[in-house]
Amino acid sequence: MGSVRWAFRCASWTPTRHEWLHAARCIQPEEKDRIGQFVFAKDAKAAMAGRLLLRRFVCETMGVPWSQIRLGRSPRGKPYLAEPLQVSPDSSVVQSEWSFNLSHQGDYAVLAAEQGVQVGVDIMKNTMPGSTSVPEYFRIMTRQFTEYEWSTIRSAGSEPQQLASFYRHWALKESFIKAIGTGLGFNLQRVEFHLPPQRLALGQPLRQTKMYLDEEEEEEWTFEESLLDTEHHVVVALGPAGNTCNGAPPPSQPPPTTFTLLSFGDLITSATPLTEEEPAYWESFETKAEAPKRQRDTQSST
Ligand SMILES: CC(C)(COP(=O)(O)OP(=O)(O)OC[C@H]1O[C@@H](n2cnc3c(N)ncnc32)[C@H](O)[C@@H]1OP(=O)(O)O)[C@@H](O)C(=O)NCCC(=O)NCCS
Repeated sequence: MGSVRWAFRCASWTPTRHEWLHAARCIQPEEKDRIGQFVFAKDAKAAMAGRLLLRRFVCETMGVPWSQIRLGRSPRGKPYLAEPLQVSPDSSVVQSEWSFNLSHQGDYAVLAAEQGVQVGVDIMKNTMPGSTSVPEYFRIMTRQFTEYEWSTIRSAGSEPQQLASFYRHWALKESFIKAIGTGLGFNLQRVEFHLPPQRLALGQPLRQTKMYLDEEEEEEWTFEESLLDTEHHVVVALGPAGNTCNGAPPPSQPPPTTFTLLSFGDLITSATPLTEEEPAYWESFETKAEAPKRQRDTQSST
């Protein structure tokens, strides 16, 4: 079974005029328009990187020529390959077996893809809440986690350790929600995560965390947790294709695939332009501030 884990460090990418205009030509026009509307460069870069990651994956791993790829979104926003429906006869890969998902937050955009199961991915950066204290932030977020999860979070140690545990739980929940594709409509109290005693360490992905859905352990779901760096926690949720729960544990799995860091050059190696160059797209981008002022201040003081 195939498995792809890619990461791109958007925060280190300062696009040149040529890079930005070329990237914009290589994505679907409606996505280019969406990205053009972001107020902050940080968000535009993350969304652009996400689109390039998706297209690179479909092109290089599924064997679909860049110009033939048409990505769609489910009614709740989850991206999928809308066209082509069939792979060319000379391709050895059957496209319907692949599931993929995207996340961008903090300094990275990440893609996870897997064959034969459904995939959700979520990345979270451990940041101090900007305008409030940690206890107040937790109070505001009370309903996102169960009592058991709050007891795990609060017993994690110092405030930064509690925040790290909080974001870890967050990424776990989001990865599941993104795998099943429901988005915001899901009652987060229905899922509860139980962490293993092992510590999560750089370069050592964990797969021992258990999920309970409506108080029943879901043995056929697996959560691959890893640290991209000391501040970024990524979770890849892997569940039964078609969301059928048959109660059977997953077949024995190879060790989790670690994330490969890609450069901008990697993102566009297979890219071919789909539209004409539009100089005004750069002029609009170069006037954007990187991030809201409060975020920039927080970043520079960490
Ligand atoms: C939209 C949502 C799917 C994820 O949003 P997010 O965590 O802000 O964003 P991420 O960076 O992780 O992911 C964004 C990407 O997920 C993908 N995505 C969008 N909707 C999706 C859905 N319903 N299912 C799966 N993936 C989805 C898209 O590729 C999107 O990027 P793009 O729009 O640039 O293509 C949605 O789950 C959400 O907003 N959830 C918040 C729920 C909540 O309150 N969580 C509290 C945590 S416990």
